[in-house]
Amino acid sequence: MQRRKFIHYVRLGAIASYLSVALAACTDSETLTENEEDISVTESELLTIGTIAQLEESGFLLNEESTIMVIKDKNGKLVAVNPTCTHQGCTVEWQNDENVLLCPCHAAKFTADGKVLAEPAPSPLPTYEAIAEQGQVIVKI
Ligand code: FES
Repeated sequence: MQRRKFIHYVRLGAIASYLSVALAACTDSETLTENEEDISVTESELLTIGTIAQLEESGFLLNEESTIMVIKDKNGKLVAVNPTCTHQGCTVEWQNDENVLLCPCHAAKFTADGKVLAEPAPSPLPTYEAIAEQGQVIVKI
């Protein structure tokens, strides 16, 4: 083999091995990141909390198992909150006539969509998206 051809083959081999390592490193990490994001997006689930008829009758629905309360505010909007008071963990109660959530333990008050109206609660209640569909109240968690 001529010296010139030998050097040419060595250069081609070096370039090929460098490219394969570089491509593998880029492709694997980006694919993993994209897949992880896809999984987190699809992890939310829909939960049926009760019926529209039950909500109309009592003014609220409480699913203690999933700690979700759905209320219909004075504007007719469905709102889903976690009813666990952010002060010390008591379950807040819906006061339909005042359109507020009241904590029976230390009198913290929240708006229908969970914002703090009166202390000692340090932060708002977590909220979720709620919809009415085919007579059912469904919450996306
Ligand atoms: Fe709700 Fe204290 S636990 S105000």
